[in-house]
Amino acid sequence: MAHEVRAVVARKKGAPVSVETIVVPDPGPGEALVKVEACGVCHTDLHYREGGINDEFPFLLGHEAAGRVEAVGEGVTGVEPGDFVILNWRAVCGQCRACSKGKPWYCFATHNATQPMTLLDGTPLSPALGIGAFAEKTLVAAGQCTKVDPAAPAAAAGLLGCGVMAGFGAAVNTGAVGRGDSVAVIGCGGVGMAAVAGARLAGASKVIAVDIDQRKLDRAMAMGATHTVDGAKGDVVEAVRELTGGFGADVVVEAVGRPETYRQAFYARDLAGTVVLVGVPTPEMKVELPLLDVFGRGGSLKSSWYGDCLPSRDFPALIDLYLGGRFDLDAFVSETIGLGDVEEAFEKMHRGDVLRSVVVL
Ligand code: APR
Repeated sequence: MAHEVRAVVARKKGAPVSVETIVVPDPGPGEALVKVEACGVCHTDLHYREGGINDEFPFLLGHEAAGRVEAVGEGVTGVEPGDFVILNWRAVCGQCRACSKGKPWYCFATHNATQPMTLLDGTPLSPALGIGAFAEKTLVAAGQCTKVDPAAPAAAAGLLGCGVMAGFGAAVNTGAVGRGDSVAVIGCGGVGMAAVAGARLAGASKVIAVDIDQRKLDRAMAMGATHTVDGAKGDVVEAVRELTGGFGADVVVEAVGRPETYRQAFYARDLAGTVVLVGVPTPEMKVELPLLDVFGRGGSLKSSWYGDCLPSRDFPALIDLYLGGRFDLDAFVSETIGLGDVEEAFEKMHRGDVLRSVVVL
C-alpha cells in the first residue's frame, strides 16, 4: 500500500518550495517507513533548492529529523514499529575498509532506501541527504534509524541528525577535547554552538566563542562559552592568544568553512594543538600556509565528517545527556513551525535570526 502525505518539495532551481502531496511506498526489504514528528531546517536544504548540490530536481527536502517507525520491510531487525528514532544520512555497510577500521562515517558503501518516493504523477523525488523528512511520512533504509529514549521531544531530538551532532562531535570526537583544555570555536551557528556545548561538557576549562554576529556570541555564553571574541572588531588570533596566556587554544574548531577563518583557526592553535575543520568549504577554496608554520607549531589538522559520529553510540548518549539536564538541546530550537513555513524559515536562517527553525508535524 502506498501512502499519500503532505511534504515540502523543491521543483525548480532557485524557486520557492511548495507543500505538495507525495506518494510514499510501503517499506521493501531492509527499509523502514517513518512517521516524521519533527525536522529542523538546515542550510543544506536551502543549498538543494538553490541547485548548489546537484540538479536532481524535484527534491524532497528535510533531513534533520526524528519520528516513529510505522512499518518495516523484510529482514529488518534493528528497529520495529513504534520505535522512536533519529534519522541519519545513510546506512553504513559494516564491512568495507572504512567500517572495518572503525570509521564508518567514511563508509564506501553507504545506502538509502531503494524504492523511490514520487510526486502524484509518478515523478521520482530526490530526498535531501537520502532522508526527505519535511513530510508526514518518509521512507529510509532501516540502518538510517537509530532508536533513542522516547521521553525526548522530537523537535530537540531531530537536531542530532545533522548540525548539532556535527558540531558536538567535531569538538568531542574529532578534537578529543579533554578536561582542562582551552578550546576556541570559530563560527557559532547551529554547528559551532554545539561544539561550544560539547567542549564544555567534555571538561574544557576555557571555551572561546568567535563570531561576527553579537547575537551569536550572547547565545554562546548561555551555551557554556567562557569568553567571546567579535571577529568583526579585531584580530581573532591575537584575541585567542591573549585569552590563553599568549599561547593559543589546545583545540580550535572551525565551523564556518571559509579560507580566512581556517587561517585564523590554524594560527589560533597552541603549539601541538589541534585544528578541526567542520565548516564545509566550496571546491574552489584554497588556503596557503607556510610549511614552516605547519612544522614548527606541530599538532594536527583534522576534518570532521558528521562529527565523526557513530549514530548508534552517540545519538542515544546525547539524548541521555539531554534528559539528564546536562545538554540543553532545547536551546537550539529557536521556533517550531509548520510545513508551509519552510520558505520563510530559509529567510530567517539567511539573516542569522535563528539557530534552528523546526517543522513539527
Ligand atoms: N568569522 C566568524 N564567524 C563567522 C564568520 C567569520 N568570518 N563568517 C560567518 N560567521 C558566523 C556566522 O555569523 C554564523 O553565526 O558563522 C556562523 C555560521 O553559522 P550558520 O550559517 O548557522 O551555519 P551552521 O549551520 O552552523 O554551519 C556552519 O558547518 O557543517 C558546516 O555546512 C556547514 O559550512 C557550514 C558550517
